[in-house]
Amino acid sequence: MHDADGGSGGFEIVAREDFSDVTYLLEIRHPLMAKAAKPGQFVIVMSHEHGERIPLTIADFDRAKGTVTLVIQAVGKTTREMQQNCKVGSTLYALVGPMGLPSTTGSAKKVVCVGGGRGVAPIFPQARGFKESGAYVIGILGFRTKRLIFWEEKFAACCDELILCTDDGSAGIKGFVSDGIKLAIEKHRDIDEVIAIGPPVMMKACVEVTRPHAIKTFVSLNPIMVDGTGMCGGCRVRVGDQVKFACVDGPDFDGHKVDFDDLMMRLKRYAEEEKAAMERWSEACRMRNLVDPASLAPPATLAPPATLAPLASQLPEPSARR
Ligand SMILES: Cc1cc2nc3c(=O)[nH]c(=O)nc-3n(C[C@H](O)[C@H](O)[C@H](O)COP(=O)(O)OP(=O)(O)OC[C@H]3O[C@@H](n4cnc5c(N)ncnc54)[C@H](O)[C@@H]3O)c2cc1C
Ligand code: FES
Repeated sequence: MHDADGGSGGFEIVAREDFSDVTYLLEIRHPLMAKAAKPGQFVIVMSHEHGERIPLTIADFDRAKGTVTLVIQAVGKTTREMQQNCKVGSTLYALVGPMGLPSTTGSAKKVVCVGGGRGVAPIFPQARGFKESGAYVIGILGFRTKRLIFWEEKFAACCDELILCTDDGSAGIKGFVSDGIKLAIEKHRDIDEVIAIGPPVMMKACVEVTRPHAIKTFVSLNPIMVDGTGMCGGCRVRVGDQVKFACVDGPDFDGHKVDFDDLMMRLKRYAEEEKAAMERWSEACRMRNLVDPASLAPPATLAPPATLAPLASQLPEPSARR
C-alpha cells in the first residue's frame, strides 16, 4: 500500500477531463500505485490537509506513464469541492492504496461487465482484465441520457459486445442495465459470470435478473468507509449469514448473498450531517464570491486595516465534517 509522495508535497494531477457538469476524471501521477494496482481496487483520497477521506475506485492505471485515473461524480461536499479545486498541476494531499481485494478476472470464459452511473468507470479495469485473460466480454453500460455517455470507445475496444442503455432511450436501448442483462442472457445461454457496479438499487435489480438463471454474480459494494483498512467497522455489510468489512473482505461480494436493504439503510445514516456539510460549504463559497479578495488587500504602503482581517477570518473553513 502506498501513500508516499516522494517528498514533492502531494500527488500531482496531470490530466483532467469533464464528462458532464457532475462527472469528472482526474489522472494522477503515482508510479508505485500504477505498478501495484489491480482491477477492482480502490484508493482513499484526501484532497487537502483538512479534507475528508473518501474512497474512490481506480478506474484506470497506466504502468508505463506511472499514473492512476479516478472518475468522480460530484454528489456532496467533498466531491464538489474537488470538482472546483482539482486542476491540472495542482496536487492531492493524500492518496492511499491500492486497497481492497482485487477482482478475480482469470477463470471465466464468457462474462458480462455491467456499470451504471458512477459504476461505469470502475467496471472498466475488470472488462479489460477479462479481455486480457481471453474471455468473451459483454459490456453493459447505463446512463440517464445520451449527453452523459463517456468512454464508449474505450469500452468498445475491450468488449466483444457492448450494450448501451439509457433511461430515456436517447441512445442504445431504452431501459435499465437490468434490461441489458436480460437481452444478454436471451442471446447467450453460456454466460459464466456477471459483475455489476453502480448504485445499490441497480446492483440489487441486476442480481434479481441473474438469480433464476443461477449465473454467478459479483457486485462491488460502496458502504461508507473511513480508514479503509478494517479498523473502524464503518463499512460493515451483511453477506449471507456473515458480517464482512467491505474495505478488506471486498469490495466485491457474491451478489446473490448481499443484504442490499441493510446496505441502503446504512448509507443513509449520515444524511443530515452530509446535508449540513454541503450547506456550510456552499455558504462559504458564496461568501468568498461576495467578498472580492482584491478589496481586502491593503495598499502596499499601508498596514492592513484592523477591521478587514477579522472579516476574512469569519468565513467558515471547509473543514472535515465527520
Ligand atoms: C469502495 C468504494 C469505491 C467508490 N468509488 C467511487 C468512484 O470511483 N467514483 C465516485 O464518484 N464515487 C465512488 N465512491 C463513492 C464516494 O466515496 C462517495 O460519493 C463520496 O465519499 C461522497 O462524499 P461527498 O462528501 O462528496 O458526499 P456526501 O454528501 O458526504 O455523501 C453523498 C453520499 O455518498 C456516500 N458517502 C459519503 N461519505 C462516504 C464515504 N466516506 N465512503 C463511502 N461512501 C460515502 C453516502 O451514500 C452519501 O449519502 C466509492 C465508494 C466506495 C465505498
Ligand atoms: S472502512 Fe473502516 S473497517 Fe472498513
